[in-house]
Formats: sequence, structure tokens, C-alpha cells
Amino acid sequence: MRAASVSDFREMARRRLPHIFFEYIDGGSYAEVTLRRNVADLEEIALRQLVMRDMTKLDMTVETLGQTLNMPVGLAPVGMAGMYAHRGETQASRAAAAAGVPFCLSTVGVCSIEEVAATGTPPWFQLYMLKDRGYMRELLGRAKAAGSPVLVFTVDLPLPGARYRDSRSGFTGSTPLRAALTQLRDGITHPAWTWDLFVHGRPHTLGSVAGAVTESRRVTDFLAWIARNFDRSVTWKDLDWVREVWDGPIVVKGVLDPADARDAVKAGAQGLVVSNHGGRQLDGVLSSITALPRIVDAVGDDLEVYMDGGVRSGLDVLKALALGAKACFVGRPWAWALGAGGEKQVARMLEILRAELAVAMVLTGCTSVRDAGRSLLDRP
Ligand SMILES: Cc1cc2nc3c(=O)[nH]c(=O)nc-3n(C[C@H](O)[C@H](O)[C@H](O)COP(=O)(O)O)c2cc1C
Repeated sequence: MRAASVSDFREMARRRLPHIFFEYIDGGSYAEVTLRRNVADLEEIALRQLVMRDMTKLDMTVETLGQTLNMPVGLAPVGMAGMYAHRGETQASRAAAAAGVPFCLSTVGVCSIEEVAATGTPPWFQLYMLKDRGYMRELLGRAKAAGSPVLVFTVDLPLPGARYRDSRSGFTGSTPLRAALTQLRDGITHPAWTWDLFVHGRPHTLGSVAGAVTESRRVTDFLAWIARNFDRSVTWKDLDWVREVWDGPIVVKGVLDPADARDAVKAGAQGLVVSNHGGRQLDGVLSSITALPRIVDAVGDDLEVYMDGGVRSGLDVLKALALGAKACFVGRPWAWALGAGGEKQVARMLEILRAELAVAMVLTGCTSVRDAGRSLLDRP
């Protein structure tokens, strides 16, 4: 099957991946209200069609945090990508670099920061506030040494939300015996994935945090370590501590409210991502696209405002830019594409977004993404 749209990658990933990983990627928290809202609210927005303008030249480039992006899209941090395809983070990083867009490596990536940087393009690095500040300091030092240009500091996970699909699939809360049996069944029923992961894809640890986890070697044990280490006491003051250790740009990820956005500015962040963690944390909160314009109005040009959540096409990208985002990040779209067939499919997914963005720009009379504004929308 040749994917024509982002939803095709989802279907391809559903067929190729073991059930537990497909559900881990696809699902959200609780009743998945926010997960659905992220997509539905973007669909509701109407672009304003304008015709008969010379649209031969389109400029999709944006300058942000000292980088030029070939289009206003990035790959959001997604945990455990190395379980969807062999050395998954390196494959996605190469696809992003070829397309000229940033790849953000998750704290809980299978590949370490050093392994991804060795592809030739050091990733943006995402970090949670961990109780073990000594280990955080070490990780930030490693990211710096590996040449990471931007730190993405995720603030919406002081306590993980419940994801029913993960308990039902046996991904979380399983006894070691049930986990082993699930793994065996998955291996037998998904031979292409098993070959890819177990012949080319080892080790299956979480590369960047492997040094801190002593008790076991299973991926789910690493996740349990991280879950125990999320620091609920975190406040904006802690950003001062982060800045002492990290002298590059900091992007705060997981802001949904204008008051928090103003605090991020005061705390000296260079950027923020309007995000509800892809509907995986507090269910029932606003969709990112609904929260976005309020935040843009509150902080103006004081810092770079990005968004993620529910972006499924290049048309969605233009809608988000029209409402004030500097760029959008996609999470599930690249995870599905990676699960569907590695680097090649992630590259294809980015190519599809680019082609769709071009059509959206041509038919709204938008020659440069830098000029995108609310006039591109019919019901702003
Ligand atoms: C499978 C999966 C794993 C994720 N892991 C992380 C993570 O490790 N760190 C993080 O900051 N966000 C993580 N996220 C959230 C994404 O960075 C992003 O906010 C979200 O996926 C955007 O929504 P979308 O999937 O609708 O594009 C994850 C999302 C998914 C789907």
C-alpha cells in the first residue's frame, strides 16, 4: 500500500505493529475526549479560498531559534520509537534532516542522544523534570556535548494520566509472566516487525536513561522508573535551575492557558508548545488549536509559539499558522509512519504534509508562511 494521507500510515502501522505498541501510540487518556477534540476542532476551522492570484512562488521556510526550517513542521518527542522500527529514532531523525525540519528526541527514546546525534544532525532534546537532579544535570550535559540546539522541557506530565487502552492491551500493569506471553504472541503474529526489531534493532533499552535504571532491562521497567521519577514539586522557579545547567534555548512544552504562557515568558523561556500531550494527560481540556489564539494574544512576539495535537495534514498546518503558531509539531503521524515502514515512510509522510501545505497556500493566496494570519480563515 502506498500511503496517500496520514490516516493511511495509521492503518499500515495497525497492520504491522504488535497490538500493544499500536494502542500505545494511538490512544489517549481516560475517555479520549481531548484526543478527539484535537482533531475535530481543527477539522471545524474553515480556510478562506481565494483564487486568481499569481501563486508560482511559495515560501515555506521559517526562521526559529537560530535555525531555518524548510517548512513549519517538526517531529514531536515520542517515547519508545525504537520499538516501532529498528533504531527508530535514528531513522526518523534522518528523514527529518532530509526534509529540513527538526526532530525532537524524547527522554524515553530507545536510542540515546549520542546515537541520534551520530546521524549527523543533533536532535532537539526533550526532558521531563526528574526528582534525580544529578541525573538531569548529567543528561543535559550529554545533550549539550552531543550538539543539541534546543531543549524542550515538558511540563504537563508531573503525574502520568491513565491510559485505559494500555492496561487493556497488557502494556502496563501486567505481571512479568503475562508480559512475557504477550511478547511471545506478538513476536509470532508479527514476523516482519520481529525480524526488524530483534535482528537489527537491539538493544531495547531507553538509551538516554539506561545508566540510571539498575533493576531490570525491560522497556516497561524503564517507563516505570521514569514514572516514579517525575517530579510533582516542579514550579517556574525550577526553570532557573535548568538554565544554570543549559545555556541554549529552552522551549516549554505543554502550555494550554494564557496565564501559564505569560509565566513562561517571565521565566525566560525562548519558546513554548501549546499542547495537551496529544490528549494523553488531562482528558477534557481544550484542544490545542482552541487554546492557541488565546495564548498568541497573551504573549505576542515575546517568545516563539508552536503547537501540537491533532495535526493530520498540511491543511491543518496552515490553519495553525493562521491562528498564530510559528510552526506545528506532529506526534502520531510520524510514529505511525515509522511503524508502517521506517525512515522511508516518515520521509513520505513529510512529503505529503508539504504537498498538502502547498495546495492550502495556493488556494488561500498565501505566498509565504511567514505572512500567514487570521485573514486566511473564513470564520476566524
Ligand atoms: C506514543 C506517544 C509518545 C509520546 N511520548 C512523549 C514524550 O516522551 N515526551 C513528550 O514530551 N511528549 C510525548 N508525547 C506527546 C507528543 O510529543 C505530542 O505532544 C503529541 O503527540 C501531539 O499530538 P498528535 O499525536 O496528535 O500529533 C507522546 C505522544 C505519543 C503519541
